[in-house]
Amino acid sequence: FTVDWDAAAAEKGGFASFMEKEVHDQPAAVADTLLGRSDSAGRLTLDELRIDPGQLKRVKKIIVLACGTSAYAGSVAKYAIESWCRIPVEVELSHEFRYREPIVDADTLVVSISQSGETMDTLMAVRYAKEQGAKTLSICNTNGSTIPRESDAVLYTHAGPEIAVASTKAFLAQIVATYILGLYLASLRGNLFTGQIRDIMADLNKIPGKITDILDREDEIKELARSMKDEASVLFLGRHVGYPVAMEGALKLKEIAYIHAEGFAAGELKHGPIALIDDGQPVFVVVPSKRGRDSLHAKVVSNIQEVRARGAKTLVIAEEGDEAVREYSEFVFYVPETPTLLMPLLTVVPLQIFACELASAKGYDVDQPRNLAKSVTVE
Ligand code: G6P
Repeated sequence: FTVDWDAAAAEKGGFASFMEKEVHDQPAAVADTLLGRSDSAGRLTLDELRIDPGQLKRVKKIIVLACGTSAYAGSVAKYAIESWCRIPVEVELSHEFRYREPIVDADTLVVSISQSGETMDTLMAVRYAKEQGAKTLSICNTNGSTIPRESDAVLYTHAGPEIAVASTKAFLAQIVATYILGLYLASLRGNLFTGQIRDIMADLNKIPGKITDILDREDEIKELARSMKDEASVLFLGRHVGYPVAMEGALKLKEIAYIHAEGFAAGELKHGPIALIDDGQPVFVVVPSKRGRDSLHAKVVSNIQEVRARGAKTLVIAEEGDEAVREYSEFVFYVPETPTLLMPLLTVVPLQIFACELASAKGYDVDQPRNLAKSVTVE
């Protein structure tokens, strides 16, 4: 069945823009996407998948197909699914996928991620994968839309209607859906014990409260955004799961504030991007947890030092209690502690707020940025 909703009737709920409202909807988007998908013992209940568990057990490779923000959700998923399931995960932009000769067979699970379920490139890529014999699973926010209808299975995100062109709450819900899928596959294949899954689900269930904590402190990031409204370029660095977050932070700024912004893997700094660093160049750095892989934290902190030594204005997103970053940062925004693989659900939020506030300070229509459409139904 399909559920219709009327975009025009949706309210901004007291916020200046739909985007701001949707950023604030994120605790609910995450909670609703988790709702009813596991029991207290940590068993995942994904009957809705309608795909033979035997087939899922045999999967040898996963290919994630998506465009835009949804593709960054796919990049986050790669870290989690490979870690939990030990299945290789490739993430590919839909429009690139179908114009080469991808290696896809009956043991490949193709996971498409689309907020709208109507993105033409993703739809065509899914059709192509099906023709090649792959099983197709759609992660989608729009009930009854074309991509889930044409896929073998569907896992809906429950972010609610997203009106602003720049995606926010759908992104978080997509990441959560890929985690649920990853944990389900790990349980089917015996990669994780029920107790481990229960613990990860418990950590996921704490995410909405942690996002609320970030939103309660949004003025810190809004003030920074207003002070930066005349910047010509902003760079974003991240590593491991912080890398797609850096890419998404840059994308948000391009989309709605029309500022040149680029995201990089922090490890690439010395292979090019560091040449861009000049006096006053703002650089956001998404810092991994100290509790995760120690070496990664230390490496990113030394990246902050490197860019700062060359004049960069260092703006840091780090985990609560990370005092090591303070001394090298012009600005630090702390997010609550959470396991490394779940961190994107928190670290992206200040970057969304930053872009939204900066674009508003410039007087732009944040919900309807120039040249962009909410769903791109042409190739
Ligand atoms: C457009 C939107 C983006 C979105 C992308 C993919 O470019 O402006 O916000 O991320 O399409 O859309 P989808 O509906 O497939 O997630």
